[in-house]
Amino acid sequence: MKPNPSVPRFRSLLGAFKFAHTPIPILMDYQKQYGKTYWAYLGGIKKALISSDPNLIKHVLQTKNKKYTKSEIQTDLLAKYLGQGLLTSKGAYWLKQRRLIQPGFHKEKLNALSSILVNVCHKELDELARKTSNKENIDVYPVMLKMAFGMVANSLFSVKMDHKDLELLESSISKIQRFIIKQIRKPFLKPWYFLSGQTSKHYKLSGEIKNILLKVIRERKHSGQRHDDLLDMLIYAVYEDTGEGMTEEQILWEAIILFVAGHETTANALSWIFYLLSNHPQVISKIQEEVKEKIGEEPLSAENLRGMSYVVQVINEGMRIYPPAWLTDRLALEDDEFGDFKIKKGTMVISFFYGAHHDPNFWTMPEAFQPERFNSKKTEAYYPFGAGPRMCIGNNFAIMEMQIAIIELLRRFDISAVKEQNIELEALITLRPKNGVMINLKNKFQQT
Ligand code: HEM
Repeated sequence: MKPNPSVPRFRSLLGAFKFAHTPIPILMDYQKQYGKTYWAYLGGIKKALISSDPNLIKHVLQTKNKKYTKSEIQTDLLAKYLGQGLLTSKGAYWLKQRRLIQPGFHKEKLNALSSILVNVCHKELDELARKTSNKENIDVYPVMLKMAFGMVANSLFSVKMDHKDLELLESSISKIQRFIIKQIRKPFLKPWYFLSGQTSKHYKLSGEIKNILLKVIRERKHSGQRHDDLLDMLIYAVYEDTGEGMTEEQILWEAIILFVAGHETTANALSWIFYLLSNHPQVISKIQEEVKEKIGEEPLSAENLRGMSYVVQVINEGMRIYPPAWLTDRLALEDDEFGDFKIKKGTMVISFFYGAHHDPNFWTMPEAFQPERFNSKKTEAYYPFGAGPRMCIGNNFAIMEMQIAIIELLRRFDISAVKEQNIELEALITLRPKNGVMINLKNKFQQT
């Protein structure tokens, strides 16, 4: 039998430093050289199976998902600071929580949130309009981060939260995320993080987040008033078997996880999409035509967004080229096999979504931005929201957020490309634009 393709250990080791900083070009090179599925040593040490093969991705995430679990990066490390929520839990507890929370994300429930999303978007665009006097180059990344955070925050707590608390929440969650990334990148500095007080500082931040949110949850529960937002969904959802709801602590952790899972991913996707749009004026014109034809000057609602199929194609194509979740990992809970690959218990299997999204066997001219390729239903080798039972619970919510942000921004601003900027991928837990994304904005309603 032919041996499985494998990156030699010395090659993985030699490239370990470069891999930690720019993994995507290295993995794309491996894909060209070794094929869709191959063995490699992460950091030159940990043997893992890496694959962009849709059949293997489906095998691990869907068909045989019970044989696999999430790795400690997604569970232990995140959970230490951000609690046990859907994203960070596993096994029977995860399944119980997923069943409880899933109905809150059904389309009809999300429709009720559309006006909240539109309001947050308007608020952020008003601020942007104030900043951009006439024609200016703006980094859209921080704008999108703020907008996406506001959209999750207001969908969870539709009743106004104290402004200071909200800011503290946003900065504490970002600081903790950055600290987690530091630990993933430089795990050997763990004793230093502890000794220098960084670990305890971040636990303290986690405590502050907890206090802010517990206050809001308690106030809501005691008021007895219903608001039809995500917090109500978490408070009033009951387990099928017991008829009981979640404890305050469970509600708290699930709420935090929605912030963590839901804001940076969406901000990344939107920033990349605006980058692509600024370089493709013909796509902008097509979006504008669709808006003109289908909704004109009407305010956006869940109902009229449903007809905006070209905008959804643009979003899909943006997330194909720049998938915010560029990979995911799983650990084998028992021995398994896939074709010639023997996957021993404890093996890490990496589904390399970015590789599948850029594979010329599935996509003609994979580097070209062509939203039209999504005008048919065929979506093989496409995983922006993962696959199987742990697929993103917020996918429809995210699509709605992005439709609103794109349509409203293009209604108010003419956008064009800023040439010669240093666009770099930063592939950490999510795929971000390392140096932000500059675009030129011209306020359509400003007198020149
Ligand atoms: C463009 C935006 C988004 C992208 C690209 C994205 C991507 C993903 C992916 C790939 C997964 C699966 C991870 C895995 O299998 O290991 C996931 C899970 C998850 N996402 Fe999203 N996500 C987005 C937005 C959101 C939003 C807006 C929310 C909530 C408001 C959210 C909440 C979650 C949760 C809770 C999970 C864990 C689900 C589970 O394990 O049961 N996501 N997301």
